Amino acid sequence: MARVFSGIQPSGELHIGNWLGMVRSAVALQDQFECLYCVVDQHAITGGYDPGTLADRTRQMAIGLMAAGIDPSRSILYVQSHVPAHATLSWLLMSITPLGELERMTQYKDKAQRFESVPTGLLTYPVLMAADILLYRADRVPVGEDQVQHLELSREIARKWNSEFSPGAPFFPEPQAILSGAKRIVGLDGQAKMSKSLGNTIGVTESPDQIWEKLRPAMTDPARKTRKDPGTPELCNLYALHRHFSPEATVAEVATKCRTAGWGCLECKRVLADQMVATLAPLRQKSLELSARPDDVTAILADGAAKARRLAAETLVGVTERMGFLPEDR
Ligand code: TYM
Repeated sequence: MARVFSGIQPSGELHIGNWLGMVRSAVALQDQFECLYCVVDQHAITGGYDPGTLADRTRQMAIGLMAAGIDPSRSILYVQSHVPAHATLSWLLMSITPLGELERMTQYKDKAQRFESVPTGLLTYPVLMAADILLYRADRVPVGEDQVQHLELSREIARKWNSEFSPGAPFFPEPQAILSGAKRIVGLDGQAKMSKSLGNTIGVTESPDQIWEKLRPAMTDPARKTRKDPGTPELCNLYALHRHFSPEATVAEVATKCRTAGWGCLECKRVLADQMVATLAPLRQKSLELSARPDDVTAILADGAAKARRLAAETLVGVTERMGFLPEDR
């Protein structure tokens, strides 16, 4: 059976960008494939972080994934640092990854600008990503658009490793990105990608009041200056969100009321808030239930890590053999 892998950073909250961009497809893929989903805490330390909150954020993200429908009885759900083979394989893959490829990664170039002295981990981040995927010889990887370049590099690393160490019989499959219909959700500022670090998110488990507090001031069509001006839905980020949260008839009504100035932006936001609250209510409920059972969450993650370690160990044997390392028992 084909294998699916994806990872998510423990940013603390699962937001509607992650959810629409990756997690919903990850949930759907559980029906057809053997799936592994990983909270990538080792990726989260590459650009400065708070050690005091990392563990809680990691647990919270695992809860968010389960609340969204990642089912630990069908998928392997675990925490990256609980499976040391990720870091081991990353090191092995670094030996064949060209420095120039890492230096040209868009996310690296953006993030590196924020540092006077750039941490090496920021540069080698995509190699750890390749290791995450290749460790399970996964074929498919649900991701949002911002990860596509990293995925292409993972494919290149797999190709290069195969041709050097496993010529003629490729050991690693070249993993394919699976993009959802919501591959880039824009944040509430109406400009940048929705991202926790930019503070422009709505969390999937936020309360109705919190959702409204965030939607109320959110950016709409910038050209619509007053209530009386007709708007252009296609220029409004909240219209884009309506398309993900509201039924078709509501989306059509929103477009008409916007174009004719029948509704002001606030009325449109109220409708969106109601739809969002209704869509996300089951996730919020499940998240509250799971948060009240911390021991169960611990046990689920321990079980996931044990399963992942077994699969990872098999791959590492195949890798180290092909790379010519001395086996322990010879
Ligand atoms: P991360 O934690 O930033 O995001 C998790 C997933 O959500 C997608 N995503 C979005 N999609 C649409 N619109 C948005 N505004 C949005 N924000 C986030 C991301 O594309 C991603 O799929 N490096 C990865 C984590 C990772 C990984 C992996 C992914 C580590 N190893 C191996 C796949 C395979 C990251 O930082 O994602």
